[in-house]
Amino acid sequence: MAEVIIVDSAETAGRLVSDHIAEHLQITPEFVLGVATGSTPVPVYRALAQRKAREVDFSAAFAFALDEYVGLPEGHPQSYRAVIDREVTQPLGFDPTRVNVPDGRAEGIETAGERYEAALRASGGVNLQLLGIGTTGHIGFNEPGSSFGSLTRVKTLTEQTRADNARFFESLDEVPIHCVTQGLGTILRAHHLVLLAFGRGKAEAVAGAVEGPVTASMPGSAIQLHSHVTVVVDEAAASRLKHADYYRWAQEHKPAWQGL
Ligand code: PGA
Repeated sequence: MAEVIIVDSAETAGRLVSDHIAEHLQITPEFVLGVATGSTPVPVYRALAQRKAREVDFSAAFAFALDEYVGLPEGHPQSYRAVIDREVTQPLGFDPTRVNVPDGRAEGIETAGERYEAALRASGGVNLQLLGIGTTGHIGFNEPGSSFGSLTRVKTLTEQTRADNARFFESLDEVPIHCVTQGLGTILRAHHLVLLAFGRGKAEAVAGAVEGPVTASMPGSAIQLHSHVTVVVDEAAASRLKHADYYRWAQEHKPAWQGL
């Protein structure tokens, strides 16, 4: 079962997860961090950036993004390469040559998935993968129907995801239709999955991922197959969890030696 931690705010979640990453980074400077885009992981990046000067040094660490849009012009501010550069690489002080984002250029797109899988394998694997969840239940851009064994490949976004992400673009028409995303099988290879979700709009997806049946119709439910999963949600995102009281009870009685 996933460990579910219900917190009072996204800021608290950001601090909690950043503390854990900072601890690991001190022990393993070559930590491989799986990074996500969207609004959800931003509190983690902010909290890490605040600690950066004092105690976290990402200069020897590696980062792998989950996904990228296909076909945006190079340098487009909403390409995930640009987003990761702005929110992760620069503020946290990663060496840009150690930050990997799938290649979403139309030219050579046929091999983008294989190339990314090879880079992931060469890194030795992701130590901790940050995940958001879409209202469709997607993790990465694995929309409903994605195989649990899937690897990095080109996918077609649902109309719902395009509408959800239109807020980052001038208009819905500008949101790409295709993406390159790590597969569910790729994500499940990471050593530790940390799924974050905030707000009432995510409550159904969180309940489906954590407590629903394991089904390709709810890609987030793939986390139930992993041996080390931490789900950090605010009260609103936790509001459809049937066993919320148990998760709170378990947190209150958590053995001190058990980290995240
Ligand atoms: P969000 O997106 O963090 O912007 O809500 C999450 C997702 O689509 O995975």
